[in-house]
Amino acid sequence: MIRFLALLILALGLAGPAAAQEPPRWTIAIHGGAGVIERGQLTPERDAEYRAALEAAVEAGAEVLRNGGSSLDAVQASIEVMEDNPMFNAGRGAVFTAEGTNSLDAAIMDGQTLSAGAVAGVSRTRHPIALARAVMEQSPHVMLAGEGADAFAASVGLEQVDPAFFFTQRRWDQLVDTLTQRGWQIPERPAGTEPTSGASAALTDGDDHRFGTVGVVAVDSQGRIAAGTSTGGTTAKRWGRIGDTPVIGAGTWAGRGCAVSATGAGEYFIRLTVARDICGLNHAAHMPVQQAADLIISEVGSIGGDGGVIALTEDGSVAFSMNTSGMYRGWANQDTAPQVAIYSDEDVVLP
Ligand code: GLY
Repeated sequence: MIRFLALLILALGLAGPAAAQEPPRWTIAIHGGAGVIERGQLTPERDAEYRAALEAAVEAGAEVLRNGGSSLDAVQASIEVMEDNPMFNAGRGAVFTAEGTNSLDAAIMDGQTLSAGAVAGVSRTRHPIALARAVMEQSPHVMLAGEGADAFAASVGLEQVDPAFFFTQRRWDQLVDTLTQRGWQIPERPAGTEPTSGASAALTDGDDHRFGTVGVVAVDSQGRIAAGTSTGGTTAKRWGRIGDTPVIGAGTWAGRGCAVSATGAGEYFIRLTVARDICGLNHAAHMPVQQAADLIISEVGSIGGDGGVIALTEDGSVAFSMNTSGMYRGWANQDTAPQVAIYSDEDVVLP
């Protein structure tokens, strides 16, 4: 009898781990901005470059999640890849203010604890998303702005760069073009930047960079959900203009098993507290997240705003919604390698 029981325990012991060997579940979704991105305007080379850049950004976060890392780490990893890539309007490659400077906004939120961190108008911190996270984790505050925010970044050891680090010729050409159209004065080139020879791709490749914000939502293998967003804002912005990206609840929100990051004409997204509202409909009204995202994006459109969102719920459901002709986007989960898309009418199989 004792031998029988011992064998039974051994058999159960062997069966136990085998039954529990389903891979841990995780999901990540990203955007690299929404806007007028028409088929045929983007050259095949540019199209392929964007898809590769999106794939690399999804993979950076997927790698964290695959290895059991947290959704916050995944959000930060993917966003830092896009902040470093001059193709996106965040970090290096950010659009210029009317004064010819780069002024960066970012936010991150932890859906488990409702902790949040945001920064607006920073110009010296290489990774604004890392700074938003430091605000969340290492300060008693939620939002810091301008020089004070950069000073805080330096005080916690985040990489500081000369503002010229963020300069790219194509964004400069876009600024000059916008200012010329508006009849506004063109500022001096930022100190420490050299004009590059050859035509800038900016005005000829058809990708409309009014909306190039980047954002990530992720849920990790422990069910923790998070959202983050980073942007240079809008070309030729003035007077310390700040968009929806660092406004918690508007461009970025995570909580109640839901996470959202937005891209688009920030003023409209702020008025409708887009990110929080989508999660509210999902949580309180039990509306599927795709339906909630579509409803709020159509509301943005009805008051005159353009843009899109990525949304995620803790069960791994991803939603993309936009009222523009394109949104750079992608996702991956434990079963699916990075999937990416650009145009609004592209079929993307969603989890
Ligand atoms: N959606 C980013 C901004 O308006 O600045």
